[in-house]
Amino acid sequence: MPISLDGMEIKNITVLGSGIMGHGIAQVYAMAGYNIVLRDIEQKFLDKAMEKIKWSLDKLVSKERISLEEESKILSRIKPIVDLKDAVHDSDLVIEAVPEIMDLKKKVYAELDKVAGDQVIFASNTSTLPISEIANTLSRPDKFIGIHFFNPPQLMKLVEIIPGQKTSDDILNLIINLVKSVNKTPVICRKDVPGFIVNRLFIPLVHEACYVMERQKIQQVEIDSAVKFNLGFPMGIFELADYTGMDVIHKATIEMHLRDKKVILPHPKIEQLFNEKKLGQKSGEGFYKYSDDKYERISLSEELGKKCDPTQIIANILNNAAWLVTNKASDINEIEKAANLGLNLKKPLFETANEIGMQKIVNELKKLSEQYGAFYEPDPLLLSMC
Ligand code: 3HC
Repeated sequence: MPISLDGMEIKNITVLGSGIMGHGIAQVYAMAGYNIVLRDIEQKFLDKAMEKIKWSLDKLVSKERISLEEESKILSRIKPIVDLKDAVHDSDLVIEAVPEIMDLKKKVYAELDKVAGDQVIFASNTSTLPISEIANTLSRPDKFIGIHFFNPPQLMKLVEIIPGQKTSDDILNLIINLVKSVNKTPVICRKDVPGFIVNRLFIPLVHEACYVMERQKIQQVEIDSAVKFNLGFPMGIFELADYTGMDVIHKATIEMHLRDKKVILPHPKIEQLFNEKKLGQKSGEGFYKYSDDKYERISLSEELGKKCDPTQIIANILNNAAWLVTNKASDINEIEKAANLGLNLKKPLFETANEIGMQKIVNELKKLSEQYGAFYEPDPLLLSMC
């Protein structure tokens, strides 16, 4: 189902990078009828990605969400290709999902800019890197935009859209329609801030959970259980970090912290796990151990959750949500929508905060800032809500 707007049409999409996000994005668009080229630097990565797509489609068949016939049509719409020039030959849009390293992205875009026709639109699935900085390296900054999916793209409803300073309104509108055409909900991040909306909430939280473990002297399953059963997350925060991948969390941390010291207080545990190659589910171990690299859940309980006071955790996420509002990157309704659809949070953040008590949360932040420094100072929005 191609979409078009003011003479621009999108029918053929190339996805660069076939990792966790890339293969999922390719599947989402193939399911909606687009012709996909999935590109990676080695055939073995593409083979693994196609296996994962098959696993996911088989799941959907087993749940009768698609038929076997549809599954084979979807698979036939995805062409794995290694050569970059061949991969973008017929492309209307390239969605880039290569690792979150600015120098690597710039290198990929420099190559891409040369081989792709002038009319081709570029969209980055970057989770943290500044859109305008990448755009400025391109011959087509008006045709470049951030389009950030959530893991697993097959199941998560949200797509953040981040226009750069020079993105044209036509491209913005076309991409909004494109996201809606695959049955996802777009939320626009109004400012190109580190982490955009959801990662500004999620990535710092992984570090904060490490501090809670250290300061409250409790186990990670206890924190995860509290996060799941008291704060309405579908997974514990360490479980989600393992599911996302410590490489992703670590690289996002570095890039976000480089640009804004206030967003995140890095805990050494993340770098340590990354250096030890304990990348989470995909490597068999992260915070938890896994039997293989297939989808696996951690056993958590309401009982275990009682051992953890989650005030510091909610205080951290709320302070970052408030920062987004104070700095005009978003508003409370859009943040709640993004947290609901991008993290599958069952309960709105500010509702949980009001149940716990805004004054209690602000007091916690003040206490933490006296003990551990200015990072914890409460945002003026939270102060005004007491
Ligand atoms: N395709 C198809 N089916 C899938 C799947 C996929 N990719 N992944 C999981 N499933 C299946 C499971 O196998 C399971 O099937 P089963 O019923 O046959 O066992 C089914 O979906 C439901 O899974 P669960 O039983 O584990 O139940 P949940 O209701 O918890 O759903 C979840 C799973 C959607 C992953 C949910 O736990 C969730 O929303 N977790 C949080 C995810 C999240 O926050 N993502 C965003 C992270 S931040 C990010 O991505 C940004 C990046 O830039 C860092």
